Amino acid sequence: VRLVVLVSGSGTNLQALLDAIAEDPGYGARIVAVGADREGTGGLERAERAGIPTFVCKLKDHATRAAWDEALTAHVAGHRPDLVVSAGFMKIVGPAFLAAFGGRVVNTHPALLPSFPGAHGVRDALAYGVKVTGCTVHFVDDGVDTGPIIAQGVVEVTEEDTPEGEAALHERIKEVERTLLVEAVGRIARDGHRIEGRKVHLGHVGE
Ligand code: GRF
Repeated sequence: VRLVVLVSGSGTNLQALLDAIAEDPGYGARIVAVGADREGTGGLERAERAGIPTFVCKLKDHATRAAWDEALTAHVAGHRPDLVVSAGFMKIVGPAFLAAFGGRVVNTHPALLPSFPGAHGVRDALAYGVKVTGCTVHFVDDGVDTGPIIAQGVVEVTEEDTPEGEAALHERIKEVERTLLVEAVGRIARDGHRIEGRKVHLGHVGE
């Protein structure tokens, strides 16, 4: 199974996928390209170190958001992915992208959706005073962090988790998130999946 991974940040989720693929010949998927919405991210460096082709598709290089969406779609399509993984990709993909890859785009979000969607899930959960938060791996639909849920992991929030400690809580979430993403992508790659409404069925595709 051919994976294209989209990143914006340090790329530790990407690294977890790279490590799983390197360590387990039976993982069932390989990363054929890594794309980013900006230059110089850790994710691009990790891909380059692994000898994986990369591309950058910057919003500001395009006259409109639709043009960027189409350019991103073309970049990804060029690598003929079976599955696209958004691993900390901080842009909302548009209609062209979803028309091309809808139902085959997996995203990871550092909160327990449907709570705290959007770009500040960790901060928002912390500010709300939740006792547990966590991460969600889900298929991308035309909303923001609203697609069918594949897997979730829980992280306790303690008294030590002050609003200033968002980064520390995010690191704890990312430890769970990396494992959740690697397992979900591997299962989809090996066993396939079927989406029925909001339910995701892994394995026995089409039975
Ligand atoms: C992840 O927690 C992801 O859910 C969020 O940003 C973080 C990206 O981390 N959107 P990395 O770039 O994979 O290290």
